[in-house]
Amino acid sequence: MKYAVRTIIVIAVLIIAFVLFLESGIYNISAMVPHNKLTLWVISTLKNNSIEHRIKGITVPGNLNDSTLVKLGFSHYNVMCVGCHGAPGIPSNEIGKGLYPHPPNLAHSAKEMPPSELFWITKNGIKMTGMPAFGKTHSDNKIWAIVAFIEKLPTMTKEQYSELQKVNKAEVVE
Ligand code: HEC
Repeated sequence: MKYAVRTIIVIAVLIIAFVLFLESGIYNISAMVPHNKLTLWVISTLKNNSIEHRIKGITVPGNLNDSTLVKLGFSHYNVMCVGCHGAPGIPSNEIGKGLYPHPPNLAHSAKEMPPSELFWITKNGIKMTGMPAFGKTHSDNKIWAIVAFIEKLPTMTKEQYSELQKVNKAEVVE
């Protein structure tokens, strides 16, 4: 019984201390200052497990190498993603540079993440990071097209990307 009372008191003190910490304003929410290791661990564990849990049922279409799909994906990537994520030969813009967490280079992500994860993140976005949910404005087919294009990024040179930009100017893909 004594043990139970002591445990309850310890838990209550910890909760009060945590609330006081939240209320105090000690934690620096500035995007100029990185999170400490504990906060980073909490956020990344929460994020990674949430995404891993949600991508399980996603079926990847078999046509991700289809050139029409890749071209459609480029036309969206070049307008909506390049500002934050950059592209071969193109650094991220001022918005992308100021974001914390920094928007990663998607050529690296494409090597490390399965297409289902690229799809889920592009569709759903990630809370409190600046990564938007494109599922509110784009059909699944368009999002798969963007994924098909991201899959090409790891082997794309800056000359190839700028060539795509030139061709695409003359031809708006819907
Ligand atoms: C306003 C800035 C912004 C725009 C625009 C944006 N993103 Fe992001 N994106 C982010 C940020 C910030 C992260 C990092 C989130 C994190 O670390 O949890 C991110 C993360 C991602 C990731 C996960 C990559 C990884 O390695 O963890 C993918 C995939 C992604 N974005 C795809 C896209 C695509 C595709 C588009 C365009 C359709 C896009 N993003 C547009 C800000 C942006």
